[in-house]
Amino acid sequence: MPVLAINGGPKHVSEGAVKPWPPITAEDERLVLESLRSDRHAWGPNCDALQKEFAAWNGNKFCWTTNSGTSALHMCVAASGAAAGDEIITPAYSWTSSVSCILHHGCVPVFVDIDFATANLDPAKIEAAISERTRAILVVHLHGLPCQMDAILDVARRHNLVVIEDCCQAHGALYRGTKVGKLGHCAAFSLNQNKMLTGGEGGLFVADDEEFHKRAQALVLFGDFREPVAQVGYHAYGLAYMYRNNDLSAAFARAQLQRLDTFIADARTLAEAVTAELRGTRGLILPVESGECRSNWYNYLIRVDPAACGYTGLGEELREAVLKAMQAEGAPVGVWQRRILPEMGAIRARDAYGNGYPWSAGRAGVDYHPSQFPEALRHVNTYFILGCLRTPNTVETARLVAQAIRKVMENLGELDVAAVAKTADRSLYERGWKQQR
Ligand SMILES: Cc1ncc(COP(=O)(O)O)c(C=O)c1O
Repeated sequence: MPVLAINGGPKHVSEGAVKPWPPITAEDERLVLESLRSDRHAWGPNCDALQKEFAAWNGNKFCWTTNSGTSALHMCVAASGAAAGDEIITPAYSWTSSVSCILHHGCVPVFVDIDFATANLDPAKIEAAISERTRAILVVHLHGLPCQMDAILDVARRHNLVVIEDCCQAHGALYRGTKVGKLGHCAAFSLNQNKMLTGGEGGLFVADDEEFHKRAQALVLFGDFREPVAQVGYHAYGLAYMYRNNDLSAAFARAQLQRLDTFIADARTLAEAVTAELRGTRGLILPVESGECRSNWYNYLIRVDPAACGYTGLGEELREAVLKAMQAEGAPVGVWQRRILPEMGAIRARDAYGNGYPWSAGRAGVDYHPSQFPEALRHVNTYFILGCLRTPNTVETARLVAQAIRKVMENLGELDVAAVAKTADRSLYERGWKQQR
Protein backbone atom coordinates (compact mmCIF):
# COMPACT_ATOMS: atom_id res chain seq x y z
CA MET A 1 0.00 0.00 0.00
CA PRO A 2 1.53 3.38 -0.94
CA VAL A 3 2.29 5.68 1.97
CA LEU A 4 0.64 9.08 1.61
CA ALA A 5 3.01 12.06 1.38
CA ILE A 6 1.26 13.63 4.36
CA ASN A 7 2.38 10.59 6.38
CA GLY A 8 5.97 10.77 5.15
CA GLY A 9 5.64 8.87 1.85
CA PRO A 10 6.97 10.14 -1.51
CA LYS A 11 5.25 13.10 -3.13
CA HIS A 12 3.35 12.04 -6.25
CA VAL A 13 3.78 15.33 -8.17
CA SER A 14 7.28 16.74 -7.86
CA GLU A 15 8.03 20.43 -7.26
CA GLY A 16 7.83 22.44 -10.50
CA ALA A 17 6.02 19.69 -12.45
CA VAL A 18 2.90 21.87 -12.76
CA LYS A 19 3.64 24.96 -14.84
CA PRO A 20 2.17 28.32 -13.80
CA TRP A 21 -0.45 30.31 -15.68
CA PRO A 22 -0.41 32.18 -18.04
CA PRO A 23 2.18 31.11 -20.63
CA ILE A 24 4.17 34.10 -21.89
CA THR A 25 5.40 34.31 -25.46
CA ALA A 26 7.37 36.78 -27.56
CA GLU A 27 4.06 38.30 -28.71
CA ASP A 28 3.09 39.16 -25.10
CA GLU A 29 6.50 40.76 -24.61
CA ARG A 30 6.30 42.65 -27.90
CA LEU A 31 2.89 44.22 -27.25
CA VAL A 32 3.57 45.04 -23.59
CA LEU A 33 6.99 46.55 -24.34
CA GLU A 34 5.57 48.58 -27.20
CA SER A 35 2.97 49.98 -24.80
CA LEU A 36 5.62 50.64 -22.13
CA ARG A 37 7.84 52.49 -24.59
CA SER A 38 4.95 54.66 -25.77
CA ASP A 39 3.73 57.71 -23.88
CA ARG A 40 0.23 56.31 -23.20
CA HIS A 41 0.07 54.47 -19.90
CA ALA A 42 -3.44 55.31 -18.70
CA TRP A 43 -6.20 54.80 -21.29
CA GLY A 44 -4.43 54.23 -24.60
CA PRO A 45 -4.66 52.68 -28.06
CA ASN A 46 -4.43 49.14 -26.69
CA CYS A 47 -7.60 49.76 -24.62
CA ASP A 48 -9.49 50.84 -27.75
CA ALA A 49 -8.12 47.89 -29.71
CA LEU A 50 -8.87 45.36 -26.94
CA GLN A 51 -12.50 46.50 -26.81
CA LYS A 52 -12.89 46.05 -30.56
CA GLU A 53 -11.08 42.72 -30.65
CA PHE A 54 -12.90 41.21 -27.67
CA ALA A 55 -16.28 42.40 -28.95
CA ALA A 56 -15.49 40.76 -32.30
CA TRP A 57 -14.26 37.54 -30.62
CA ASN A 58 -17.33 37.27 -28.41
CA GLY A 59 -19.83 38.57 -30.98
CA ASN A 60 -20.96 41.62 -28.98
CA LYS A 61 -21.76 45.04 -30.42
CA PHE A 62 -20.37 47.04 -27.50
CA CYS A 63 -17.49 46.58 -25.10
CA TRP A 64 -15.75 48.62 -22.40
CA THR A 65 -12.49 47.53 -20.92
CA THR A 66 -12.33 48.21 -17.18
CA ASN A 67 -9.89 47.89 -14.30
CA SER A 68 -11.58 44.72 -12.95
CA GLY A 69 -14.38 42.23 -13.41
CA THR A 70 -15.89 43.64 -10.23
CA SER A 71 -16.20 47.11 -11.78
CA ALA A 72 -17.61 45.63 -15.01
CA LEU A 73 -20.25 43.88 -12.87
CA HIS A 74 -21.15 47.15 -11.16
CA MET A 75 -21.51 48.69 -14.64
CA CYS A 76 -23.92 45.85 -15.51
CA VAL A 77 -26.10 46.68 -12.52
CA ALA A 78 -26.07 50.38 -13.51
CA ALA A 79 -26.85 49.38 -17.11
CA SER A 80 -29.88 47.40 -15.96
CA GLY A 81 -31.54 50.65 -14.89
CA ALA A 82 -32.14 49.37 -11.35
CA ALA A 83 -32.58 52.11 -8.76
CA ALA A 84 -31.90 52.25 -5.01
CA GLY A 85 -34.01 49.73 -3.12
CA ASP A 86 -34.75 47.64 -6.23
CA GLU A 87 -34.03 43.93 -5.91
CA ILE A 88 -31.63 41.82 -7.92
CA ILE A 89 -31.60 38.04 -7.79
CA THR A 90 -28.20 36.38 -7.50
CA PRO A 91 -26.97 32.87 -6.57
CA ALA A 92 -26.28 32.06 -2.92
CA TYR A 93 -22.85 30.74 -3.87
CA SER A 94 -20.40 32.80 -5.92
CA TRP A 95 -17.53 35.22 -5.54
CA THR A 96 -18.39 38.25 -3.37
CA SER A 97 -18.36 40.57 -6.41
CA SER A 98 -21.58 38.93 -7.65
CA VAL A 99 -23.34 40.55 -4.69
CA SER A 100 -21.15 43.57 -3.85
CA CYS A 101 -21.96 45.00 -7.31
CA ILE A 102 -25.63 44.99 -6.28
CA LEU A 103 -24.94 46.70 -2.95
CA HIS A 104 -22.65 49.29 -4.59
CA HIS A 105 -25.62 50.41 -6.66
CA GLY A 106 -27.91 50.77 -3.64
CA CYS A 107 -29.88 47.68 -4.65
CA VAL A 108 -31.00 44.80 -2.46
CA PRO A 109 -29.72 41.30 -3.23
CA VAL A 110 -32.13 38.38 -3.13
CA PHE A 111 -30.41 35.00 -3.06
CA VAL A 112 -31.51 31.83 -4.80
CA ASP A 113 -30.07 28.42 -3.99
CA ILE A 114 -27.88 26.53 -6.44
CA ASP A 115 -28.50 23.27 -8.22
CA PHE A 116 -25.97 20.96 -6.52
CA ALA A 117 -25.23 19.01 -9.72
CA THR A 118 -23.90 22.08 -11.58
CA ALA A 119 -23.16 24.47 -8.65
CA ASN A 120 -24.99 27.13 -10.70
CA LEU A 121 -28.20 29.03 -9.96
CA ASP A 122 -31.19 26.67 -9.82
CA PRO A 123 -33.69 28.05 -12.37
CA ALA A 124 -36.59 26.21 -10.71
CA LYS A 125 -36.14 28.34 -7.57
CA ILE A 126 -36.02 31.79 -9.18
CA GLU A 127 -39.74 32.50 -9.53
CA ALA A 128 -40.40 32.22 -5.79
CA ALA A 129 -37.77 34.92 -5.17
CA ILE A 130 -39.37 37.53 -7.44
CA SER A 131 -41.20 40.48 -5.86
CA GLU A 132 -42.68 43.71 -7.18
CA ARG A 133 -39.24 45.32 -6.60
CA THR A 134 -37.25 42.78 -8.65
CA ARG A 135 -35.48 44.37 -11.63
CA ALA A 136 -32.84 41.85 -12.70
CA ILE A 137 -31.44 38.34 -12.42
CA LEU A 138 -27.66 38.18 -12.15
CA VAL A 139 -26.52 34.74 -13.26
CA VAL A 140 -22.98 33.47 -12.68
CA HIS A 141 -21.48 30.91 -15.06
CA LEU A 142 -19.42 29.47 -12.26
CA HIS A 143 -16.22 27.48 -12.73
CA GLY A 144 -16.69 28.13 -16.46
CA LEU A 145 -19.95 26.16 -16.80
CA PRO A 146 -22.88 28.10 -18.33
CA CYS A 147 -26.14 28.29 -16.39
CA GLN A 148 -29.34 26.69 -17.70
CA MET A 149 -30.17 29.81 -19.71
CA ASP A 150 -33.40 28.72 -21.47
CA ALA A 151 -35.23 28.36 -18.18
CA ILE A 152 -33.68 31.55 -16.74
CA LEU A 153 -34.49 33.65 -19.81
CA ASP A 154 -38.04 32.29 -19.79
CA VAL A 155 -38.64 33.47 -16.19
CA ALA A 156 -36.99 36.81 -17.00
CA ARG A 157 -39.19 37.36 -20.06
CA ARG A 158 -42.38 36.53 -18.17
CA HIS A 159 -41.52 39.00 -15.41
CA ASN A 160 -39.87 41.62 -17.61
CA LEU A 161 -36.51 41.34 -15.87
CA VAL A 162 -33.06 42.25 -17.11
CA VAL A 163 -30.56 39.37 -17.24
CA ILE A 164 -26.97 40.16 -16.24
CA GLU A 165 -24.30 37.54 -16.89
CA ASP A 166 -21.29 37.24 -14.59
CA CYS A 167 -18.89 35.65 -17.09
CA CYS A 168 -15.81 36.45 -15.01
CA GLN A 169 -14.78 32.78 -15.04
CA ALA A 170 -16.38 31.71 -18.28
CA HIS A 171 -14.69 33.27 -21.36
CA GLY A 172 -15.67 31.17 -24.36
CA ALA A 173 -18.08 28.86 -22.53
CA LEU A 174 -21.02 27.93 -24.76
CA TYR A 175 -24.75 27.56 -24.19
CA ARG A 176 -26.44 25.83 -27.12
CA GLY A 177 -23.47 26.93 -29.22
CA THR A 178 -23.67 30.63 -28.21
CA LYS A 179 -20.88 32.24 -26.23
CA VAL A 180 -21.71 33.47 -22.73
CA GLY A 181 -21.99 37.24 -22.65
CA LYS A 182 -24.41 37.02 -25.61
CA LEU A 183 -27.25 35.35 -23.72
CA GLY A 184 -28.57 38.11 -21.44
CA HIS A 185 -28.74 41.92 -21.71
CA CYS A 186 -25.18 42.67 -20.58
CA ALA A 187 -22.21 40.84 -19.09
CA ALA A 188 -18.96 41.20 -17.21
CA PHE A 189 -15.68 39.35 -17.74
CA SER A 190 -12.60 39.42 -15.53
CA LEU A 191 -9.05 39.70 -16.83
CA ASN A 192 -7.29 38.92 -13.56
CA GLN A 193 -4.32 36.59 -13.58
CA ASN A 194 -6.20 33.32 -13.01
CA LYS A 195 -8.65 33.86 -15.80
CA MET A 196 -8.67 32.09 -19.15
CA LEU A 197 -8.02 35.53 -20.69
CA THR A 198 -5.77 37.75 -18.59
CA GLY A 199 -4.21 41.18 -18.67
CA GLY A 200 -2.74 40.69 -15.18
CA GLU A 201 -5.76 42.60 -13.90
CA GLY A 202 -8.70 44.18 -15.72
CA GLY A 203 -12.22 43.51 -16.90
CA LEU A 204 -14.64 43.78 -19.79
CA PHE A 205 -18.24 44.97 -19.92
CA VAL A 206 -20.20 43.83 -22.99
CA ALA A 207 -23.70 44.49 -24.33
CA ASP A 208 -25.56 44.42 -27.62
CA ASP A 209 -28.10 47.15 -26.77
CA GLU A 210 -26.79 50.72 -27.05
CA GLU A 211 -28.87 51.90 -24.11
CA PHE A 212 -27.17 49.37 -21.83
CA HIS A 213 -23.79 50.43 -23.16
CA LYS A 214 -24.56 54.11 -22.52
CA ARG A 215 -25.81 53.56 -18.99
CA ALA A 216 -22.69 51.52 -18.21
CA GLN A 217 -20.48 54.19 -19.78
CA ALA A 218 -21.57 56.65 -17.14
CA LEU A 219 -19.53 54.73 -14.57
CA VAL A 220 -16.28 54.36 -16.49
CA LEU A 221 -14.70 57.75 -16.19
CA PHE A 222 -16.00 60.01 -13.44
CA GLY A 223 -19.39 60.34 -15.15
CA ASP A 224 -17.93 62.46 -17.93
CA PHE A 225 -20.21 60.99 -20.55
CA ARG A 226 -23.44 61.49 -18.73
CA GLU A 227 -26.29 63.50 -20.22
CA PRO A 228 -27.65 66.16 -20.27
CA VAL A 229 -24.43 68.14 -20.71
CA ALA A 230 -22.44 65.64 -22.71
CA GLN A 231 -20.53 68.34 -24.61
CA VAL A 232 -18.74 69.64 -21.55
CA GLY A 233 -15.18 68.26 -21.33
CA TYR A 234 -15.13 67.56 -17.62
CA HIS A 235 -18.15 67.81 -15.38
CA ALA A 236 -19.59 65.89 -12.51
CA TYR A 237 -23.18 65.30 -13.41
CA GLY A 238 -23.13 61.71 -12.20
CA LEU A 239 -21.65 60.22 -9.05
CA ALA A 240 -19.58 57.97 -11.20
CA TYR A 241 -16.47 55.91 -10.59
CA MET A 242 -13.12 55.53 -12.28
CA TYR A 243 -13.27 52.11 -13.80
CA ARG A 244 -11.17 52.51 -16.96
CA ASN A 245 -8.40 50.05 -17.80
CA ASN A 246 -4.77 50.98 -18.49
CA ASP A 247 -2.78 50.49 -21.68
CA LEU A 248 -0.22 47.98 -20.35
CA SER A 249 -2.88 45.55 -19.11
CA ALA A 250 -4.85 45.97 -22.31
CA ALA A 251 -1.73 45.25 -24.40
CA PHE A 252 -1.10 42.06 -22.40
CA ALA A 253 -4.75 40.97 -22.77
CA ARG A 254 -4.65 41.64 -26.54
CA ALA A 255 -1.64 39.35 -26.92
CA GLN A 256 -3.32 36.63 -24.85
CA LEU A 257 -6.60 36.99 -26.77
CA GLN A 258 -4.82 35.84 -29.92
CA ARG A 259 -4.37 32.42 -28.25
CA LEU A 260 -7.62 32.23 -26.26
CA ASP A 261 -9.28 29.64 -28.53
CA THR A 262 -6.24 27.39 -28.16
CA PHE A 263 -6.18 27.90 -24.38
CA ILE A 264 -9.82 26.80 -24.13
CA ALA A 265 -9.35 23.80 -26.42
CA ASP A 266 -6.27 22.72 -24.43
CA ALA A 267 -8.09 23.16 -21.09
CA ARG A 268 -10.76 20.77 -22.40
CA THR A 269 -8.16 18.18 -23.37
CA LEU A 270 -6.56 18.37 -19.92
CA ALA A 271 -9.95 18.20 -18.14
CA GLU A 272 -10.85 15.11 -20.18
CA ALA A 273 -7.56 13.49 -19.15
CA VAL A 274 -8.32 14.21 -15.47
CA THR A 275 -11.85 12.79 -15.82
CA ALA A 276 -10.55 9.64 -17.52
CA GLU A 277 -8.14 9.12 -14.62
CA LEU A 278 -10.65 9.88 -11.82
CA ARG A 279 -13.80 8.26 -13.18
CA GLY A 280 -15.12 5.68 -10.74
CA THR A 281 -12.98 6.88 -7.79
CA ARG A 282 -14.98 6.13 -4.67
CA GLY A 283 -15.98 9.23 -2.70
CA LEU A 284 -15.54 11.80 -5.48
CA ILE A 285 -18.27 13.61 -7.41
CA LEU A 286 -16.81 14.76 -10.72
CA PRO A 287 -17.94 17.85 -12.70
CA VAL A 288 -20.85 17.58 -15.12
CA GLU A 289 -21.24 19.09 -18.56
CA SER A 290 -24.53 18.68 -20.39
CA GLY A 291 -25.14 18.73 -24.14
CA GLU A 292 -26.28 22.36 -24.10
CA CYS A 293 -23.69 23.66 -21.60
CA ARG A 294 -20.05 23.54 -22.73
CA SER A 295 -17.61 24.56 -20.03
CA ASN A 296 -14.41 26.47 -20.75
CA TRP A 297 -12.90 24.33 -17.93
CA TYR A 298 -11.73 27.36 -15.98
CA ASN A 299 -11.80 25.21 -12.83
CA TYR A 300 -12.13 21.47 -12.53
CA LEU A 301 -14.73 21.16 -9.77
CA ILE A 302 -14.71 18.11 -7.47
CA ARG A 303 -16.93 17.34 -4.50
CA VAL A 304 -16.10 14.86 -1.74
CA ASP A 305 -19.04 12.59 -0.96
CA PRO A 306 -18.77 11.81 2.79
CA ALA A 307 -21.45 9.08 2.67
CA ALA A 308 -19.67 7.26 -0.16
CA CYS A 309 -16.46 7.48 1.90
CA GLY A 310 -18.28 5.92 4.85
CA TYR A 311 -17.59 9.10 6.86
CA THR A 312 -20.27 10.20 9.30
CA GLY A 313 -18.66 13.38 10.71
CA LEU A 314 -18.80 16.91 9.30
CA GLY A 315 -18.33 17.01 5.51
CA GLU A 316 -16.05 20.05 5.80
CA GLU A 317 -13.70 18.21 8.18
CA LEU A 318 -13.30 15.31 5.77
CA ARG A 319 -12.83 17.71 2.84
CA GLU A 320 -10.15 19.63 4.75
CA ALA A 321 -8.21 16.46 5.60
CA VAL A 322 -8.44 15.17 2.03
CA LEU A 323 -7.36 18.55 0.65
CA LYS A 324 -4.29 18.75 2.90
CA ALA A 325 -3.27 15.24 1.88
CA MET A 326 -3.68 16.06 -1.83
CA GLN A 327 -1.68 19.25 -1.44
CA ALA A 328 1.06 17.25 0.31
CA GLU A 329 1.12 15.02 -2.80
CA GLY A 330 1.81 18.17 -4.87
CA ALA A 331 -1.65 18.42 -6.49
CA PRO A 332 -2.64 22.07 -7.23
CA VAL A 333 -5.98 21.82 -5.41
CA GLY A 334 -7.67 24.37 -3.18
CA VAL A 335 -10.92 25.70 -1.80
CA TRP A 336 -12.04 29.02 -3.18
CA GLN A 337 -15.03 30.18 -1.10
CA ARG A 338 -15.72 28.48 2.24
CA ARG A 339 -18.81 30.57 2.91
CA ILE A 340 -21.99 31.16 0.98
CA LEU A 341 -22.87 34.78 0.12
CA PRO A 342 -25.74 35.10 2.66
CA GLU A 343 -23.09 34.47 5.36
CA MET A 344 -21.21 37.68 4.43
CA GLY A 345 -20.97 40.15 7.31
CA ALA A 346 -22.68 43.02 5.47
CA ILE A 347 -25.56 40.75 4.48
CA ARG A 348 -26.01 39.28 7.96
CA ALA A 349 -25.91 42.81 9.42
CA ARG A 350 -28.15 44.20 6.65
CA ASP A 351 -25.91 47.20 6.60
CA ALA A 352 -23.43 47.85 3.80
CA TYR A 353 -22.98 51.63 3.98
CA GLY A 354 -24.28 52.58 7.42
CA ASN A 355 -27.80 53.42 8.55
CA GLY A 356 -28.96 50.09 7.16
CA TYR A 357 -28.38 51.15 3.55
CA PRO A 358 -29.27 49.84 0.98
CA TRP A 359 -31.89 47.76 2.82
CA SER A 360 -33.38 50.94 4.26
CA ALA A 361 -34.31 51.90 0.67
CA GLY A 362 -36.04 48.60 -0.06
CA ARG A 363 -39.03 46.60 1.06
CA ALA A 364 -39.04 44.76 4.36
CA GLY A 365 -39.00 41.00 4.59
CA VAL A 366 -36.08 39.77 2.48
CA ASP A 367 -34.85 36.75 4.44
CA TYR A 368 -31.17 35.81 4.34
CA HIS A 369 -31.00 32.97 6.81
CA PRO A 370 -28.28 30.68 5.36
CA SER A 371 -30.29 27.56 6.16
CA GLN A 372 -32.57 28.50 3.26
CA PHE A 373 -29.76 27.57 0.89
CA PRO A 374 -29.02 23.93 1.74
CA GLU A 375 -27.53 23.01 -1.64
CA ALA A 376 -25.09 25.94 -1.56
CA LEU A 377 -24.09 24.99 2.01
CA ARG A 378 -23.61 21.34 1.06
CA HIS A 379 -21.50 22.49 -1.85
CA VAL A 380 -19.18 24.84 0.08
CA ASN A 381 -18.64 22.17 2.72
CA THR A 382 -17.58 19.45 0.30
CA TYR A 383 -15.96 20.94 -2.79
CA PHE A 384 -12.43 21.62 -3.91
CA ILE A 385 -11.07 22.76 -7.22
CA LEU A 386 -8.23 21.89 -9.44
CA GLY A 387 -7.37 25.35 -10.73
CA CYS A 388 -5.30 26.72 -13.60
CA LEU A 389 -4.33 23.25 -14.88
CA ARG A 390 -3.93 24.58 -18.39
CA THR A 391 -1.44 24.91 -21.19
CA PRO A 392 1.60 24.69 -21.20
CA ASN A 393 0.83 21.72 -18.93
CA THR A 394 0.40 18.50 -20.84
CA VAL A 395 -1.96 15.53 -20.68
CA GLU A 396 0.83 13.67 -18.84
CA THR A 397 0.87 16.34 -16.11
CA ALA A 398 -2.93 16.27 -15.89
CA ARG A 399 -2.79 12.48 -15.43
CA LEU A 400 -0.08 12.79 -12.77
CA VAL A 401 -2.16 15.32 -10.81
CA ALA A 402 -5.28 13.17 -11.10
CA GLN A 403 -3.33 10.14 -9.86
CA ALA A 404 -2.24 12.15 -6.80
CA ILE A 405 -5.92 12.87 -6.06
CA ARG A 406 -6.83 9.22 -6.57
CA LYS A 407 -3.95 8.06 -4.38
CA VAL A 408 -5.45 9.98 -1.44
CA MET A 409 -8.99 8.76 -2.08
CA GLU A 410 -7.86 5.14 -2.37
CA ASN A 411 -5.97 5.37 0.93
CA LEU A 412 -8.46 7.28 3.04
CA GLY A 413 -7.91 4.80 5.85
CA GLU A 414 -4.44 6.31 6.31
CA LEU A 415 -5.90 9.75 7.02
CA ASP A 416 -6.51 10.92 10.56
CA VAL A 417 -9.42 13.27 9.87
CA ALA A 418 -9.96 14.03 13.56
CA ALA A 419 -6.31 15.04 14.00
CA VAL A 420 -6.48 17.44 11.02
CA ALA A 421 -9.73 18.88 12.36
CA LYS A 422 -8.10 19.43 15.77
CA THR A 423 -5.16 21.40 14.36
CA ALA A 424 -7.21 23.33 11.79
CA ASP A 425 -8.36 26.91 12.19
CA ARG A 426 -11.76 26.46 13.89
CA SER A 427 -13.18 29.48 12.07
CA LEU A 428 -13.15 27.27 8.96
CA TYR A 429 -15.92 25.15 10.45
CA GLU A 430 -17.79 27.34 12.88
CA ARG A 431 -20.84 29.21 11.67
CA GLY A 432 -22.04 31.87 14.08
CA TRP A 433 -25.52 31.93 12.57
CA LYS A 434 -26.36 28.41 13.71
CA GLN A 435 -26.88 29.70 17.22
CA GLN A 436 -28.82 32.73 16.13
CA ARG A 437 -32.03 31.11 15.08
C1 LIG B 1 -17.50 34.77 -10.44
C2 LIG B 1 -16.64 35.99 -10.31
N1 LIG B 1 -17.21 37.20 -10.39
C3 LIG B 1 -16.48 38.32 -10.29
C4 LIG B 1 -15.13 38.28 -10.10
C5 LIG B 1 -14.36 39.56 -9.97
O1 LIG B 1 -13.37 39.72 -10.94
P1 LIG B 1 -12.11 40.67 -10.64
O2 LIG B 1 -11.21 39.92 -9.73
O3 LIG B 1 -11.51 40.93 -11.97
O4 LIG B 1 -12.65 41.90 -10.02
C6 LIG B 1 -14.48 37.05 -9.99
C7 LIG B 1 -13.02 37.01 -9.76
O5 LIG B 1 -12.41 36.02 -9.51
C8 LIG B 1 -15.25 35.87 -10.10
O6 LIG B 1 -14.67 34.67 -10.01
